[in-house]
Amino acid sequence: MAHYVKGVLIPRDQIDKMVTGLADRITEDYQGKEIVIVGVLKGSFIFMADLVRKINIPMILDFMSVSSYYGGTKSSGVVKIIKDMDVDIEDRHVIIVEDIVDSGLTLQHLKEMLLTRNPASLKVCAAFDKPDRRKADITAEYTGMKIPDEFIIGYGLDFDGKYRNLPDVCILAFDGGNE
Ligand code: IMP
Ligand code: MG
Repeated sequence: MAHYVKGVLIPRDQIDKMVTGLADRITEDYQGKEIVIVGVLKGSFIFMADLVRKINIPMILDFMSVSSYYGGTKSSGVVKIIKDMDVDIEDRHVIIVEDIVDSGLTLQHLKEMLLTRNPASLKVCAAFDKPDRRKADITAEYTGMKIPDEFIIGYGLDFDGKYRNLPDVCILAFDGGNE
């Protein structure tokens, strides 16, 4: 499928301010508690690295890897756990860190699964949100920015495994017809 980087949607300085805002809210909300932050690989890795360095609360970091996309731009609705987290989250305050909530299906499955492990609390922090495309009735408690219905890349987000390293969030455009 022919595609090209159409332009910057969110420049890096704006992303930085967004992350600071989220980290400040989390620091305030979890005063006196210890938290477990679970990053959903791979898309969240840059966001998570920036976020945790701005949060001033004792924390344990862990990762999970799930797959729902299989190389395309639309969610399959099937979530496969490729790597589970290592930490036992029973009676702990857990925050899932996601790159983007699109249909919400990935997050819905993930939340349901983690809730069976009886955490003290479970919230979601997502860098980006595409509310127009939601299929599952789910909202992240902490959302960085709402974005229009475009396919974005950069700041950890990929297309076919590429472009994660771009420091700004950019729009990926597709040449019509053969998507
Ligand atoms: P959902 O299950 O439809 O909410 O999909 C969530 C996952 O799909 C995210 O964690 C991303 O990995 C991926 N995704 C959704 N929208 C985009 C996008 O615009 N660019 C890159 N990846 C995306
Ligand atoms: Mg992802």
